[in-house]
Amino acid sequence: MKAITYQTYGDDPEVLELTDVDEPKIGPDWVKVQVKASSVNPVDWKLASGGMDGMLDTYFPVTPGWDVAGVVESVGPAVTRLAPGDEVFGYVRKDAVHGGTYAEKVSAPIRTLAKKPANASFAEAAAIPLAGLTAFQCLVHALDIGADDTVLIHGASGGVGSFAVQIARSLGARVLGTASEANHDYLRELGAEPFTYGDGLVERVREAIPEGVTAVLDLNGGDLEVSPGLLGESSEGRIVSIIDPVVKEMGGQYVFVSPDVEDLDELAAMFDDGSLKVEIAATYALADAGKAWEDSQGGHTRGKIVITVD
Ligand SMILES: NC(=O)c1ccc[n+]([C@@H]2O[C@H](COP(=O)([O-])OP(=O)(O)OC[C@H]3O[C@@H](n4cnc5c(N)ncnc54)[C@H](OP(=O)(O)O)[C@@H]3O)[C@@H](O)[C@H]2O)c1
Repeated sequence: MKAITYQTYGDDPEVLELTDVDEPKIGPDWVKVQVKASSVNPVDWKLASGGMDGMLDTYFPVTPGWDVAGVVESVGPAVTRLAPGDEVFGYVRKDAVHGGTYAEKVSAPIRTLAKKPANASFAEAAAIPLAGLTAFQCLVHALDIGADDTVLIHGASGGVGSFAVQIARSLGARVLGTASEANHDYLRELGAEPFTYGDGLVERVREAIPEGVTAVLDLNGGDLEVSPGLLGESSEGRIVSIIDPVVKEMGGQYVFVSPDVEDLDELAAMFDDGSLKVEIAATYALADAGKAWEDSQGGHTRGKIVITVD
């Protein structure tokens, strides 16, 4: 089968090659999926650069990619929840970095897959898992956001941010989001009040909300250090960062997204009831995965970049 692979670590997307590889094996509680689409997450190219070598075992050649949407081809003998022909989506993070989703087929532990939202295209479904789960787990599990909250999201227009704004709104919160001015109308469409990031952010936010916000979600890192100054007095420490564990020294929490079937089901239900939309910035064919990475590495993706497989 065809798969994108890299043989060694490298910063340049040129490390990616379209190659022929063996079909993946499936364990007793694993599922083989015919991949219809994947999507790019910055972690894909961070892993390829070797930046996470100290954390995760890596076996070359690596097929990158943790997001998938596709059709179940076969299941291991212990799998009862899914069957061949089911349309699924998932965040296929395994214990080691090796057989990812930029491929015609992927084998996935059952704990990483859920039924695809019925109303979503494969491209839309593939955009959701990693970024959607991150946003959901930060807002629902870590911050317990509700209707009394005013949440400031640093980096609200990217993959995680676009989902975070919509999820926080559907939880009833007032949402402030940072982005460059080119994305302010986009943030308004998602339901957030836009603010430009960088110098003077605290003053701009305090002008709009003198009492401060009740929670901060950091998806970029650039403005993390000003976050305590954005919070109202009774909300001290209500900061979550997905970028920098140093947030713990501010009394906040660092979140690293986990595969979770119930959370995927919640995201699928939100998509199907219309409360979660997917913004696709660009779509690339599997063979053009390197171009998709260059696009993502520019740092200004609005929503998600999708890779289609056919
Ligand atoms: N810990 C975890 O579990 C976890 C999970 C998912 C992602 N992450 C990490 O979180 C980060 C965001 O992921 P993503 O998928 O959302 O990335 P992304 O889609 O590439 O984010 C792009 C967005 O970042 C915004 N941005 C650029 N510079 C900014 C700044 N200085 N301040 C605020 N926003 C800025 C851009 O807005 P403008 O174009 O308007 O500038 C753009 O919309 C990445 O570093 C990723 O590796 C961590």
